Amino acid sequence: MKKPTHHALLIRGGTVIDGTKAPRFHADVAISDGRIAAMGELDTHTADDILDASGLIVAPGFIDVHTHDDLALLSDGDMACKLSQGVTTVIVGNCGISPAPLRNGMDLPMPLNLLDIPAENRFTSFWAYLQALRANPAAVNVAAMVGHTALRVTTMADTQRTANSTEIAAMQQMLDEALRAGAIGLSSGTFYPPAAHASAEEIIAVGRPLAEHGGLYATHMRDEADQVLESLEESFRIGRELGVPVVISHHKVMNKPNFGRSAQTLPFILKTMQHQCVALDCYPYTAGATMIRTDRGVLDSRVLIASSVPHPECAGRDLDEVAAEWGLSKVEAAQRLEPGSAIYFVMDEHDVQRILAFDETMIGSDGIAAGANPHPRLWGTFPRVLGHYSRDLGLFPLETAVWKMTGLSARNFRLPGRGTLKLGSHADLVLFDAINVRDSATYATPTLTAQGISRVFVNGVVAWQGGAHSGARSGQLITRSPNIG
Ligand code: ZN
Ligand code: CU
Repeated sequence: MKKPTHHALLIRGGTVIDGTKAPRFHADVAISDGRIAAMGELDTHTADDILDASGLIVAPGFIDVHTHDDLALLSDGDMACKLSQGVTTVIVGNCGISPAPLRNGMDLPMPLNLLDIPAENRFTSFWAYLQALRANPAAVNVAAMVGHTALRVTTMADTQRTANSTEIAAMQQMLDEALRAGAIGLSSGTFYPPAAHASAEEIIAVGRPLAEHGGLYATHMRDEADQVLESLEESFRIGRELGVPVVISHHKVMNKPNFGRSAQTLPFILKTMQHQCVALDCYPYTAGATMIRTDRGVLDSRVLIASSVPHPECAGRDLDEVAAEWGLSKVEAAQRLEPGSAIYFVMDEHDVQRILAFDETMIGSDGIAAGANPHPRLWGTFPRVLGHYSRDLGLFPLETAVWKMTGLSARNFRLPGRGTLKLGSHADLVLFDAINVRDSATYATPTLTAQGISRVFVNGVVAWQGGAHSGARSGQLITRSPNIG
């Protein structure tokens, strides 16, 4: 059969970086029915629409492997913060946090309520959450994990202990249902109070259904500071015992005494990769952001308040300054600001660069839309890696940068037909200017749109152009089970 030479869209004259780490090459790209229909020299082809991409890179749309966009997808489906960076797919349900399954009415502890979960009309099953995503497509694709902390909070009257066998059975059952409905894995966040008392054995027992469904296990580890090596070993053991891939989320080494220890963690990760499936991601900043907390030295360095329920007027201010004004210690002031979220400057630039440059590290923003003064990673992560770290500092070639946010991510999260540009793959594309791409968001002005992202297509439909979203909602729900999705 002769291949069709008329397409819906023809992108002419661009330079393709295909997401495999291969060197860039000149090619036209044709799109029809949401897929790549042809690639190469397509001079003789025609199309309903023709786009001149000369001077631009044509790459697979970026995959944000670490997000908390679970409810933002439903409440603000335009997803400008992501499209403006070239992101076309987000992974939700990270750090043990997911909006399902949860019961109505019950109080939700931090960090679950970082998601802005309403008191009623909650998703009491994961299936219901996935149905809502299907019924209300967002501008980007989504694949969802179940949060172990959500399972705990919904199951256990008292989360300040390890789960008993009845509770474990109930959580296991909910995970199994979620995986059958299309969840791609389980995440845990033993760093956080509602899950800190969960033993590795509890997570292994709850996670039993993962292997059968091809699910993965992602973790915000128990400790990313003094006990970082022990926490890595615990995470690897959980993956080994379950027989599933492990994703180390937002890998970092925290607090001054641990600066430089990425020189220990990365070789340990690499060694473990020889005999089990391990992946990791990171964001390109020396500050993290999460709920306001006062333990384990997190307040020793600079702290910027991102949001506060009792004192919203403090968003964007330094904790030091607020504490001085109130005549309180840093810890006392932080306690008065709770519940809320903050930005913690707890990392060393050398570690960030070493982790970013580690061959197997994927890019994930860990952005949280909550609060008036979010961490700039929400709007800046991907262009910052392309511009600041790859081009300006020369940390790795642009092809590697793209691979870390596309092909590598799709492989690790098993997203079929995404992450690389080839015939037949989903037409998630970003067109950007390699010379001018850069992040604009800073700690002082965190919601500025990045520069150099020219056009973004999601499943063949233009979603971002001329510095604005098109209003299209062509994102798809990506599930593990093809027979259901
Ligand atoms: Zn986390
Ligand atoms: Cu996170």
